[in-house]
Parts: sequence; C-alpha cells; structure tokens
Amino acid sequence: MIIAIDGPAGSGKTTTAREVARRLGIARLDTGAMYRAITLGVLEAGLDPQDSNAVEDLLDSLQVDMEGDRIFLNGKEVTDRIRLSDVTEAVSPVSAMKAVREKMVSLQREIGLKQDCVVDGRDIGTVVFPDADYKFFLVADTRVRAERRLKEQADKGENLSLDEVTRQIEMRDRMDSSRDQSPLKKADDAIEINTSNLTIDQQVQRIIDKVESNP
Ligand code: C5P
Repeated sequence: MIIAIDGPAGSGKTTTAREVARRLGIARLDTGAMYRAITLGVLEAGLDPQDSNAVEDLLDSLQVDMEGDRIFLNGKEVTDRIRLSDVTEAVSPVSAMKAVREKMVSLQREIGLKQDCVVDGRDIGTVVFPDADYKFFLVADTRVRAERRLKEQADKGENLSLDEVTRQIEMRDRMDSSRDQSPLKKADDAIEINTSNLTIDQQVQRIIDKVESNP
C-alpha cells in the first residue's frame, strides 16, 4: 500500500506523514529529505546549486540512504543538518534538475515497492507513484505555513524573521510549481485538505478515516 501526501512547503506534510505512518504501523518516506541531502552534497562540494552540469558530474558520488526517519549522505548522518537555511535556499534549483530527479525517483520507487509506505513530497501522486492507493494534497495559507516554519527553525536554534521565512516559502513555491520536471501539482484524483485551521491530530485523522473507510 502506498499513501501519497503532496503539498507545498509548510503545508504539514512531514508531520502528518510521520504520524499517519506511526498510527498505521507502516514505513514512511520523506522525499524532501532526499533532495535536501543531495543539495547538501552540492554545497559541501563547493558547487553552484544552479550549475546543472557540475551537479550532474557530482551525482554519481553522492549516496543517499534512509533508515526510518534518519538520513545519511555518503554514510554520514545529516538528518538535522539538511534542515538549515543554506540547504533550504538551494534545494529548489537542485531538485529541478532532470538527472537529480531521475536518481531520486528510482530510489523512492525501490524503497516504496518493498513495503507499505506513507510517502510525502511534491510529485508522489503525479509521477513517483501515480497508482498510489491513496493520494492527498495538503494546502494552507502562506501566513500559516510561514509561522509553522518559523517555529520549526526556532526549535532548531535558527532565528529567522517572519518576513525571511515567508520569502523562502514563496520562492520555493514559485520554483517548485513552475519547473519543467515534475512540478508541484495536485494529482487529479488526490483529496485536497486545507490544514490552515486544523490541528495535526485533525489532519492525521482525516487521512486515517479515509484509509480505514476504504480498505
Ligand atoms: O518537503 P521539503 O520542504 O523538505 O522539500 C524540500 C524541497 O525538495 C522542495 O522545496 C522541493 O524543491 C524538493 N522536492 C521535490 N520533490 C519532492 C520532494 C521535495 O522537488 N518529491
């Protein structure tokens, strides 16, 4: 069984996916974390995240591994590191590159086909698993999304302003939705959930109810 959860930055995908997977007792795959890990590799190599030729040349030397909620780049754990602003700022151009997407999508399919899995990202219901058993598309007002991100970053010790986080979110939305390769888009058969006024528990329950009512 694949449960696909897509949506823009800060829409609540990551937290919701983690909790849905926990409650159903199945695996969870955070595909955004995979693009972030590749982006960290690009930054650590000193490359320009817009330089697709250089990134493509580097790609074979970057190995991404997932172990539950932990993520490793070339054997080193980067779970927390990939959430910092330098990676957030650079991830959209890197994840727009065809070679990067091909590598990540094949890894995502390999992981997802081995087990029941909640998979969250931008193109899961449209491209990675178009035949997913359940598809959800989470949305929320920009202001709400920015406030959520601000809090997350503060919890990680990064003190950004609300304006700065709003700017990052709007920039990522724009780039993720307008790219040629697998743009952020609701699948025609996905159920849209607006999480602006929902608690995490309510978001999770909507998804669980749907899955349990249609086994
Ligand atoms: O979900 P998260 O905000 O961590 O994703 C980081 C970035 O990775 C997104 O802004 C997007 O550019 C990229 N991404 C993607 N396709 C996915 C998941 C994430 O392009 N399936």
